[in-house]
Amino acid sequence: MPSLLLRNIKTLVLAETMPRAYVAGPDMSQLPLLNDAYLLAEDGRFAAFGPMSECPDRADQVVDAGGGFVFPSWCDSHTHLVFAASREQEFVDRIKGLSYEEIARRGGGILNSARRLRETSEEELLQSALGRLREVEALGTGAVEIKSGYGLTLESELKMLRVIQGLKAETAMPVKATFLGAHALPPEYKGHREGYIRLIIDEMLPRIAGEGLADYIDAFCEKGFFTVAETEQFIEAGARYGLKAKVHVNQFNSLGAVPACVQRGALSVDHLEVASEADIESLKGSATMPTLLPSAPFFLSDPYQPARRLIDAGLPVALASDYNPGSTPSGKMQFVVSLACIKCGMLPEEAIHAATLNGARAMELERECGSIAVGKLANFFITPPIPSVAYLPYAFGSDLVERAFLRGEVVADKRRGGIS
Ligand code: NIG
Ligand code: FE
Repeated sequence: MPSLLLRNIKTLVLAETMPRAYVAGPDMSQLPLLNDAYLLAEDGRFAAFGPMSECPDRADQVVDAGGGFVFPSWCDSHTHLVFAASREQEFVDRIKGLSYEEIARRGGGILNSARRLRETSEEELLQSALGRLREVEALGTGAVEIKSGYGLTLESELKMLRVIQGLKAETAMPVKATFLGAHALPPEYKGHREGYIRLIIDEMLPRIAGEGLADYIDAFCEKGFFTVAETEQFIEAGARYGLKAKVHVNQFNSLGAVPACVQRGALSVDHLEVASEADIESLKGSATMPTLLPSAPFFLSDPYQPARRLIDAGLPVALASDYNPGSTPSGKMQFVVSLACIKCGMLPEEAIHAATLNGARAMELERECGSIAVGKLANFFITPPIPSVAYLPYAFGSDLVERAFLRGEVVADKRRGGIS
């Protein structure tokens, strides 16, 4: 039984003796911290932790944390990290004054990515996505959700979802797959949207569910994309195949999608740059996780998510990267946590809870990931010596994930002389 012992941890962050499923409201600012600690993992799972005065004296492998902080790995519950090509020309077009919506209306945006993806082989997609997965492993991510939605044909959506399955086989972190056929109306269905909706519901969904290629269903509910009524149809169709919903809502407009998703038992509602009082009210008492993606408004120069209003209403909040080629070409969760603090008014403790435990909850992994608790996967990272927890979002330009571990094994070591 291989064991790993970490000694000399200055502060062990989010170690729980009574694991919680998620954290909401005022509890989000109460981050468990254990100073001068050790941490033991066995067989890839956390086995014990406590003060250095009680540190066991032997293990198969002993690692000196060198006075660094140890955090549970980030749980990134919303990404689109399978894609064929970057879109920096649109980035330049936005600098020149075009909006994300205008670019989409001209056939750029998601449709640009769909054209490129359809031309790209499954193997090429797998290799490029694997590069991004390795990148986020080294940035401290230890669980990830990945969406389809750049295929928009039966064959290409299947291809994307198979790539996600291929990624599962290559990484030690849990990966969840979401079917996002309803990401944009493909050009061949212009003027015939009902045909595409039927394709999603009657052909794509049964095939994808039948092959076990997706855990969840998603839709981009937004003006110019899919309506609330259509989104309701997708959620209900997904439910018939046992797929819960994680839905893109309120990125640019509050259309009523939040209460509609909550009523239909969505696992999460994601984006929420715009949130009305009625949206916030509808989330109270529900099991739906509001998931904020502040890197998207950062990149698109949009208003930031009202995290304070959500947390002050007693709600939980999760943070995710939204890693994708159009609105967020970054999977760096430490930066997401910084933005949540700087731009959304979250306290560092709230943002860390949101990017770990609540992110895990938003992809039903809270029993496996999201905190340091006996029995959970030994996915964590070690920082260099830092003065406090608040230093992590404060030092937004520094990469403070010095050593990253998945299932008790090192996957990145950025110290001089370490593996990278
Ligand atoms: O979450 N908003 C919809 N989907 C992605 C962006 C997709 C794209 O532009 O390629 C998002 O921001
Ligand atoms: Fe997204």
